[in-house]
Amino acid sequence: MRQDHLITATQLSRPDIEAVLDRAREIDGSREAFEQRYSGSVLALCFFEPSTRTKMSFETAAKRLGAETIDMGSIESSSVKKGESLADTVRVIEGYADALVLRHPSEGSAKMASEFVDVPVINAGDGAGQHPSQTLLDLHTIRERHGLDDLTIGIMGDLKYGRTVHSLASALTNFDATQHFISPESLRLPRSVRFDLHESGAQVREHTELDAVLPELDVLYVTRIQRERFPDENEYHQIAGEYRIDADTLSAADPDLTVMHPLPRVDEIAADVDETSHARYFEQAHNGVPVRMALLDMLLGGDSA
Ligand code: NCD
Repeated sequence: MRQDHLITATQLSRPDIEAVLDRAREIDGSREAFEQRYSGSVLALCFFEPSTRTKMSFETAAKRLGAETIDMGSIESSSVKKGESLADTVRVIEGYADALVLRHPSEGSAKMASEFVDVPVINAGDGAGQHPSQTLLDLHTIRERHGLDDLTIGIMGDLKYGRTVHSLASALTNFDATQHFISPESLRLPRSVRFDLHESGAQVREHTELDAVLPELDVLYVTRIQRERFPDENEYHQIAGEYRIDADTLSAADPDLTVMHPLPRVDEIAADVDETSHARYFEQAHNGVPVRMALLDMLLGGDSA
């Protein structure tokens, strides 16, 4: 990778993405070969927002590479509670670790943190901004099944506040992918993301309903309505539940359609979809380990691939 930090998916070129995904594939094939590669290294987990998959898969990835992890713990138990600034927190933690994984509710926080430290910072979600390591595992999941070119993908749900969507949409501009965005008018992609997609010449369409476009899709990427980022609780209740799929919805889909979701789901994918051959979201979550191992390998190893 050309950069020391992973802050947004826009910094990733096609060769960067392919290098990480090739490495993930290699790791999947021979985990033992990577087992003790980073013994003695320390990865710091700094999560200012809840996380299950991202945090645990980074932790598992580090451990499988032989590295140790240290965890800031909850905000309640850390000095943040005493009013410490993010800049001070990361400047202290950089002295304890070789890389830092940061999740924070403020958009732009990972970029800001990266300006204060010399060790690599990985943005594990900055508010409604970006979540680039999630994108790498999403792309790995898509590539292993469909390839990344000549791809038609539908991205549905909360496109305004969903950071996984912003990163995925941007990374897909490196490939020959047509992106269909399906959401209520009030949760359309932010103007800045639409502008960047347009600038990059991406093939993009926006819809308010899934029906018309569903049969064309290779992948349907469903997202959760981000309740915690809604300024207005009433608006949340009006919208939640509208963009929901079940096994019946998918009867109109291509038999090879892959349904993905970054998880956690609330009720946007009914449990009966889990039993269909379309469901790939648990596999997608499991792919977090080899992909994050590959990413750590490249950032800790100073790989210039
Ligand atoms: C997502 C996130 O935190 O942005 N989850 C994840 O990292 N897998 C999606 C979400 O919270 O809806």
